[in-house]
Amino acid sequence: MIRANEDYGKLPGSYLFSTIAKKVAAFSEANPDKKIIRLGIGDVTQPLCPAVIEALHKAVDEMGKAETFRGYAPDLGYAFLRETIAEKVFRPLGTDIAADEIFVSDGAKSDSANIQEIFAGKTKIAVCDPVYPVYVDSNVMAGRTGTYDAATGLWSDVIYMPCTADNGFSPELPKEVPDLIYLCFPNNPTGAMITKPQLQEWVDYANRNKAVIIYDAAYEAYIHEEGLPHSIYECEGARTCAIELRSFSKNAGFTGTRLGYTVIPKDLKDADGVSLHSLWARRHGTKFNGAPYIVQRAGEAVYSEEGQKQTKEQIEYYMRNARTIYEGLAGAGFTVSGGVNAPYIWMKTPDGMSSWDFFDYLLEKANVVGTPGSGFGPSGEGYFRLTAFGTYENSVEAMERIRKM
Ligand code: MLT
Repeated sequence: MIRANEDYGKLPGSYLFSTIAKKVAAFSEANPDKKIIRLGIGDVTQPLCPAVIEALHKAVDEMGKAETFRGYAPDLGYAFLRETIAEKVFRPLGTDIAADEIFVSDGAKSDSANIQEIFAGKTKIAVCDPVYPVYVDSNVMAGRTGTYDAATGLWSDVIYMPCTADNGFSPELPKEVPDLIYLCFPNNPTGAMITKPQLQEWVDYANRNKAVIIYDAAYEAYIHEEGLPHSIYECEGARTCAIELRSFSKNAGFTGTRLGYTVIPKDLKDADGVSLHSLWARRHGTKFNGAPYIVQRAGEAVYSEEGQKQTKEQIEYYMRNARTIYEGLAGAGFTVSGGVNAPYIWMKTPDGMSSWDFFDYLLEKANVVGTPGSGFGPSGEGYFRLTAFGTYENSVEAMERIRKM
């Protein structure tokens, strides 16, 4: 008799952003005349830049001609893109990531959810709290997280590393040693950043304990301050303990176009010397048929001179929004952080309001959508996230409405 996967059944509620979308749809239906400003999910609003559009058109034309038509893409990615990434992203950082250590995919969300498959069932995971929900949910689905305590919002077999105002939203090395550590900097949701010496401590800790770090660098293009690490491979020893996730969604507006990549150095082995690079290659070969040729050409164009100039302008556009939101909230008397090296602003809810109560209040009073901090974990309770990925006009208007609340 067929039975559903019982680990999926353990997930409490729906995925955070689906829950928000449902609430907003219900509000919108009940209030059709209200103009809602969406600063919830971190979805971009600027169109793809001209260099990317040109590459897309060219690739589409190639697909229409017998001489240049392409069928299945190589499952690990086209060499032209992997080599461009190695040369344009990793070499300038002084890191020695080779093209064949880069696995092209349809985005960092799926990679961050799937990467746990190459680790043993009993792998003990450590996550920041608050955290991007995919890391935990995907491990719940894999049956690795124990039991859920609805009162605390914690899973019994997960090591939580609280990121609070007291520690500058930077996790401390856990006392109980995990096997797999998820880190994301610039951080989603808090917008906090980590220094290179701090990241080096994590790398040393992981190497010392034969643990692996999954380093989500999806927001690295938003780092504005000098001297901060753009890749974990800038740290000495990271090749033997770290996997890095990268995305084209936020640095080039590919949320709907879909492209990302994961870096697994060949030196990265499990405790018995098994190559994690080989396992991920095997997984890709079995479960993935490659990102579309057209999209990989678009990704390549991001690194052309024009592409770099144009995508940097987009990032500056969003960072102007970040400043607008940060200053708007601070000016209205809220306690705010993030938004300097990240497109997310993390605010404390007023008067000790719960994150979800503030979500409802903001939607009702200002018709502005944000993301409740508690949706990212118990330490996010009493916090709220706003994204800088809206339009400038909407960011300004949202702040005006919030000031008037
Ligand atoms: C977010 O809002 O946290 C992100 O947009 C979600 C994602 O990138 O999948």
